[in-house]
Amino acid sequence: MNSDSDLQIAGDILEVTHLLQPAREHPATVAEFVGMARTIAADRAQWAHLVEYDATSRWYHRLRTGPGYEVWLLSWVPGQGSGPHDHGPSSGVLTVLEGELTERTERGQRALGAGAQRVFAPGYVHDVVNDSLEPAVSLHVYYPGLTDMPMHAARCGVRETAPAAGDVVTA
Ligand SMILES: [Fe+2]
Repeated sequence: MNSDSDLQIAGDILEVTHLLQPAREHPATVAEFVGMARTIAADRAQWAHLVEYDATSRWYHRLRTGPGYEVWLLSWVPGQGSGPHDHGPSSGVLTVLEGELTERTERGQRALGAGAQRVFAPGYVHDVVNDSLEPAVSLHVYYPGLTDMPMHAARCGVRETAPAAGDVVTA
C-alpha cells in the first residue's frame, strides 16, 4: 500500500481487466518509441552481428519497420559524420549503442555515449559526428519513416538542395 496516496483499490486488481489496456504490439507514444529503442539497445543479439563498418561511405541498415515507423542501424568510423541536416516531416529517437558520437546544433555540442538518447521533432537540425578514435554504432527510429533528409549549409543554416527521392540516407 502506498501511504503517500489516498487512492486505494479495494478488491483484486486482476478482476478489473476490462479497465486495463491491452499491451500494444507497436509503439505509439514518444515514451513507447524511446522504450522500444532501449529494448533493442539492450538486446545485442538483435543487431550486433549485422553491423558493418565502411570507411568510404556511412553504413546503414533498416532493422525493423512497423506501422508508420522505421528503425535504422548506423555505423560510424572515426571521422565520419552526417553533415548538418533535418529529417523532413519525421520525428525521431537517436540512441547510441556503442562508442561515442558528438551532436552539434546551433546551441552547441554534446557528447553522446553508449545509452544516450535524443528525441527530436520535425525540423530539428543537427550534425552528428564520430569525433572519437573508436567506431560507433547508433539506432535511429523515425516516425513517419524517413522520406526526406534536407541538408543544411554548415554554420549559417542555409538549406542546400535536398537529396533526390530514393537517395535518402539516415542520421
Ligand atoms: Fe539526424
